[in-house]
Amino acid sequence: MKNTIDSRANDLREDIGDDTITNPSATAGSRSFEDVLGANLSRRRFVASSFVLASGAGSLLAGCASTDTKGDDQRFAEGPTKVGFDFQEIEHGFSYNHVCAPDHTAKVLVKWGDPLFEDAPEFDFLNQTVESQMQQFGYNCDYVGFLALTPKDGESDRALLCVNHEYPYPWLSVPNFAGSLDDLTKEQVQISQASMGNSIVEVYRQDGEWYVDRGSKYNRRITALETKMVLTGPAAGHPRMQTNADPSGREVIGTINNCAGGMTPWGTYLTCEENFNYHFGGKLAEGHPETANHERCNVPQNYMGWAQQDPRFDLSNEPQEPNRFGWMVEIDPKDPTSTPKKRTAMGRFKHEGGENILAADRRLVVYMGDDQIFEYLYKFVSRDAVDLKRPENNSDLLDHGTLYVAKFMDEGRIQWMPLDISDPLLKGEFESQGELLIDVRRAAQILGATPMDRPEDVVPNHKTGKVYVMLINNRKRTEANVANDRVNNVFGHIIEIVEDDNDAASTEGNWEVVVRCGNPNDPTHKAKWNPATTENGWFASPDNAAVDPSGRLWIATDQSSSSKISGTLDGLWALETEGEGRGTGKMFYRAPKGAELTGPCFSDDGESLFMAIQHPGDYDRSEEEKAQGGINDWPEFKVDQPPKPSVVVVTKKAGGPVG
Ligand code: FEO
Ligand code: CA
Ligand code: CA
Repeated sequence: MKNTIDSRANDLREDIGDDTITNPSATAGSRSFEDVLGANLSRRRFVASSFVLASGAGSLLAGCASTDTKGDDQRFAEGPTKVGFDFQEIEHGFSYNHVCAPDHTAKVLVKWGDPLFEDAPEFDFLNQTVESQMQQFGYNCDYVGFLALTPKDGESDRALLCVNHEYPYPWLSVPNFAGSLDDLTKEQVQISQASMGNSIVEVYRQDGEWYVDRGSKYNRRITALETKMVLTGPAAGHPRMQTNADPSGREVIGTINNCAGGMTPWGTYLTCEENFNYHFGGKLAEGHPETANHERCNVPQNYMGWAQQDPRFDLSNEPQEPNRFGWMVEIDPKDPTSTPKKRTAMGRFKHEGGENILAADRRLVVYMGDDQIFEYLYKFVSRDAVDLKRPENNSDLLDHGTLYVAKFMDEGRIQWMPLDISDPLLKGEFESQGELLIDVRRAAQILGATPMDRPEDVVPNHKTGKVYVMLINNRKRTEANVANDRVNNVFGHIIEIVEDDNDAASTEGNWEVVVRCGNPNDPTHKAKWNPATTENGWFASPDNAAVDPSGRLWIATDQSSSSKISGTLDGLWALETEGEGRGTGKMFYRAPKGAELTGPCFSDDGESLFMAIQHPGDYDRSEEEKAQGGINDWPEFKVDQPPKPSVVVVTKKAGGPVG
């Protein structure tokens, strides 16, 4: 595509994960790397689970728990847990197109601008309008959720895909963009707001191929521009949630920066508001009471140019508007007229994901990362049990419960600390639970939570109950702590948590680092992998993860500028967690140049894998590439079409489960 792309695009991309230290307790619990390693070694002796032996001990524990409970309480999925991956591994490398394991097929299913309704206009890059974008698939897809529907005659599958659209990117999406956000017109800003939010898309599989059903009654666009939402739970209606447009503090237009998410057992879709600070601009009045709150959340950054054209995103006009973002949002995809709900009981921070699992007593436990360097790991435990038979009885389930924050300790123990106003440490600091939830980072800091290396997806394995935490990187860590044991953590790591009694509602558990990412053959990376990992099997910067129906873990990466150090593109890797192979990676899919991989999601039978390809074409071009003038116009490679973020579906050529 012959579009203008200047160096700012690359500068922005380097910062798109929030690398600003806003946590004054960033170094809490920090020690030297050697101290931490020493503590970890002694802890491993203590729990008799060295790296190689860990799998045996771990799987025994999970095996006991799942055998005991399977069938009684529906907490764990039925069927055997599979160990190992049969696919043909691909190689690290660089390519403009995507590359999939050769025994599988990858197809672009839906891309930015594709019409979602019978009468929606076709995409026209040079003549984008607000109206057309609101009827088309949005930009920069991230999370993908799968909700099975009954197939029609002649079909093998039918489902709703619930897709997040994380952030706009005028350098690649606005025709002939001159490079300055100040140049964006009001219409261009509104188009970008219409390209954000979510898409609900009905899809079906016929003769082995997946297609979008444009005539579906479920297809829906939820946008940052016009979709009415309500705030529910303890912070709803709080005076700090009120604005000129909404004196009630209970109604808000739109959702922004929706990163990862989750599907609930009752079929709703959780979508996470992550870097909401990027969308606000302007200045607070001197001495404004929200000053400390906004500084803690790194508001405003004005990376999208919205404040110049939309007074709602200008702090000088609406100083409390940012308090209405940074929440977990619940959407009922089966009811296109339903009003999305921002669930304030789950805290306000840079929500990455909302993967969840049932506790022993069938309460819902939602694991959540706060994606900024030195921020925390959370889980929400509902007050009431999930009613699996009558989904409508769960409609307010996420408004009542306990939000916990994690403290990692020596000897491989983790403690979940309740963020509750009744705690004497918190009571004096906040006037109500609602206010505590608005400023939840500060509350977590007061309790001494462990500052982490950018927690991304946190994914419970529905077969074993074990929980996997993606920590993407922290280039500003100068002192290690027990759970983040590398300074200048460029490549990230993955922690496994086994909750006590294998019950997700437990307030304590065990933890262990499964892999320390990076190249194991480069000693400067200080990486840790199972030695069976091939030269292509290691990866860097784990962001999203999925567990397939047979209980195997898959990791999607987002290296951003670390790609230049690792020498590889992003992609999807399988990661063994059980047996002798624990800690072995295997490369399955390479993303097109410039893209990160997000939203891996399996169909219920494991035979289809959906992934979102975000920001293809966004990379530092070589001099040679600049001379050629173009950028990576994936997936169409047409001179009149820009790169298009897209959802890809992967199936196995011979049929059967992927991988
Ligand atoms: Fe939007 Fe944390 O990645
Ligand atoms: Ca992410
Ligand atoms: Ca990401």
